[in-house]
Amino acid sequence: MNKLIAPSVLAADFGNLQRDVEMVNNSKADWFHIDIMDGVFVPNISFGMPVLKAISSHASKTIDVHLMIVDPDRYITTFADLGADILTVHFEACTHLHRTIQAIKASGMKAGVALNPHTPISVLEDIIADLDLVCIMSVNPGFGGQSFIENTYKKVSQLKDLITRSGANTLIEIDGGVTNKNAKQLTEAGADVLVAGSYVFKSENPTETIADLKSLCN
Ligand code: DX5
Ligand code: ZN
Repeated sequence: MNKLIAPSVLAADFGNLQRDVEMVNNSKADWFHIDIMDGVFVPNISFGMPVLKAISSHASKTIDVHLMIVDPDRYITTFADLGADILTVHFEACTHLHRTIQAIKASGMKAGVALNPHTPISVLEDIIADLDLVCIMSVNPGFGGQSFIENTYKKVSQLKDLITRSGANTLIEIDGGVTNKNAKQLTEAGADVLVAGSYVFKSENPTETIADLKSLCN
């Protein structure tokens, strides 16, 4: 399958947001990755609905929203209305994960679950068939620009195995510290979508960096 690149807008220049969104539109990137942080589930606040609205009014590619918030059920329909195509919630933030996933799908979005670095893949055994995407966090969520956690490769293989055994049709996304140093090994282990924030937006030529990442894993 074609491996996908999802630049994380968290690392964009917010003073030139439209310019950076257009850059992604005109690049080889596949998705926009949008990080919503509440300062409670993670120790940082990113941006909220008005900014997402501005991004989605210019974005011409799939909008992949990663919620790092407690009690995400409160905002599912709001994110659907704001243009999210995929809505990912954290396993660690959901008491009734099955209900949350069904609510996301009922709102017309694809449903994803993110796992923190310490959360084992095995917690997904009884929900994997319902998931469109699993996001393996390869850093502790909350900040861009952190170093990739090497244990991630093992988790990708375990998740790939679980998906195959279950006959599920779930995409594996990797989020945090993705660069040209780990992209190939991640996709070889089974990753389908690579999120990259700092590596793309802090590079000299983000369009080229996206193209390089894309060709590295395809
Ligand atoms: C971290 C976010 C990531 C972040 C990735 O909590 O979920 O999406 O933007 O940024 P980099 O690629 O800089 O690690
Ligand atoms: Zn993210």
